[in-house]
Amino acid sequence: MERKRVRVAISKGRILKEVCGYLAKSGYPNEIGKNTGRELIFNVKNLQILACKPSDVPKYVELGAADCGIVGSDCISEANCDVYEPISLPLGKCKMVLACLKSKKLTLKPGMNIKIGTKYPRITKKFFLKHNIDPEIVFLNGSVELAPLTGLADAIVDITETGSTIKENNLKIIETIMQINAKVIINKTSYRTLNDEIEILTSSLLKKIKI
Ligand code: PRP
Repeated sequence: MERKRVRVAISKGRILKEVCGYLAKSGYPNEIGKNTGRELIFNVKNLQILACKPSDVPKYVELGAADCGIVGSDCISEANCDVYEPISLPLGKCKMVLACLKSKKLTLKPGMNIKIGTKYPRITKKFFLKHNIDPEIVFLNGSVELAPLTGLADAIVDITETGSTIKENNLKIIETIMQINAKVIINKTSYRTLNDEIEILTSSLLKKIKI
């Protein structure tokens, strides 16, 4: 029986590359493994893959432009979207940290004034709320590590994977806020109508990732 088409929004970059590689090993055509990330929408068997900016993946899925998505848990927490989040994948592992200049003495104290540069205002506010601090947020779109170097912010909340960017820019980690990995998220309607197809996709991915 012909399988129904599933639209999958995937985080462009490392996650897209890795997922395409695993799909190529799971019986999907080999060409998918050679995907360069430049083609933003392409079909493989019953899948239509959308190469999305990571922070946009939850929106595509919540609003039904994609049936499911594969994206880092950082973007899911930040988006606070209304989707199912049933499966964790051992991919895209990194962590969210609070960091500042190596030379700075930073101790979090309730009620203190602090300016934070970040692409993650929601996660940042939630973290500081636990410390009874209401930070001033400077929203940035990238190269966040520049903020403390230039005086734009006292510290940053950002993801780190290898730690090189922090090290090479004379910063230090003050605290780890959360561990991050890729997850499958599913649109609430598609969860009912395409459950079998999405299950086939995720289980074939999981089988290959665990090998
Ligand atoms: C991410 C993140 C850090 C860097 C960390 O940025 O925001 O800047 O990677 O990686 P590392 O710990 O391995 O050095 P990204 O490369 O996505 O680009 P951006 O600065 O434009 O957001």
